[in-house]
Amino acid sequence: MKKLAVLISGNGSNLEAIMEACNKGNIHGEMICVISNNPSAYGIERATKFKIPTKIIDHRDYKNRCDFDEYLENFIESLNVDLIVLAGFMRILGKKITKKFTGKMINLHPSLLPLYPGLNTHEQVLMNNDKYHGISIHFVTSDLDAGPLIAQGKILVKKDQNIDMLTTRIHKMEHHLLPKVINELCLENIYLDSQTNKVIYNQKINSEISSLYFDNF
Ligand code: GRF
Repeated sequence: MKKLAVLISGNGSNLEAIMEACNKGNIHGEMICVISNNPSAYGIERATKFKIPTKIIDHRDYKNRCDFDEYLENFIESLNVDLIVLAGFMRILGKKITKKFTGKMINLHPSLLPLYPGLNTHEQVLMNNDKYHGISIHFVTSDLDAGPLIAQGKILVKKDQNIDMLTTRIHKMEHHLLPKVINELCLENIYLDSQTNKVIYNQKINSEISSLYFDNF
């Protein structure tokens, strides 16, 4: 069993999807700790319900980004985990910490990267009248929302879709795809080749992950 840590900043619905999948045996991994930079993140309550240890590392308690990153890096190292999942974690991490956990840290982003890195992705999709929207799961590097892509899911933006409807559909897809990707990483069916910096997929891997997952509900 691989050991997992999840980093959050808020609601934590993806965290809950991961914890549920672990409980059901759909992820061959064990959640060791949930870390939040926000003391009032609802995800902390969710983790407590699932009896997962939590740790608050409030970025406001640190002089600067570097000090926060350093504390976080040391704390994660002390957990001795195999995989670190950023699921709604709203802090930008610097070069040192991202390099330290290369190939072990993944991020979930609500857009079809490289489109719309950063915030307010749903708003941008609607404003630009995009035909498609989606999610991306990628290995973390120091470049914001730009590390090697592992999996993407795509939806058709329906006519008259408002932001709430779009957000709900995106969340639904995230809750579906993220636990599957985490499981494949735990099984070492997906990994980052450190020489080439390319994502390697084992042939046995779930086809929803290796091809672009398209959900037209
Ligand atoms: C998700 O949409 C994720 O893609 C983005 O932030 C949101 C977090 O949602 N980075 P939740 O906290 O998991 O409910």
